[in-house]
Amino acid sequence: MPENSEAKATPSNPGATPAAASAKPAAAKAETPTQVNQQINKGRRRVVWACIWGYLGVNFLMFLRFFFPRALYEPNTQFNIGYPADFGLGIDQRYLMTNRVWVVKEPDRLFVIFARCTHFGCTPEWKPAENKFKCPCHGSGYDSEGMNFEGPAPRPMDRALLAPLVAFN
Ligand code: FES
Repeated sequence: MPENSEAKATPSNPGATPAAASAKPAAAKAETPTQVNQQINKGRRRVVWACIWGYLGVNFLMFLRFFFPRALYEPNTQFNIGYPADFGLGIDQRYLMTNRVWVVKEPDRLFVIFARCTHFGCTPEWKPAENKFKCPCHGSGYDSEGMNFEGPAPRPMDRALLAPLVAFN
């Protein structure tokens, strides 16, 4: 008889119970303390490597983000408005949306007003019926030359510099 006295369910030993038959694989699965420690260390190593790769991944994404700066892409402050003959008398608003200016042509002169309220920077609206610029934010009013005359605006609106290229004719 072998040392292992457990009964096996074999054709030659039909009386052996199934519980006794499954006892051997369970005994084979029993792990030594060294194997258990190896399993624990393996789990710990996975956690450490996950932290390291996560840290490197986040830093790599930040490095890539560096090449896409959060810049404001505002319109160029120097632009061509064409010739004075292109404008009729009065306030021209064709550059209001693109460059935030009004071109004002009078019989003897032409000038450009920067459409920015000098109170808190809103964009005033041109009111042709009242012949004035009116700021919708706090009610400042400017005359057709951009001079403030009502509301909290502390000074007239700024004028744009006309380059010599655009000569008045
Ligand atoms: S921003 Fe125009 S009145 Fe205040």
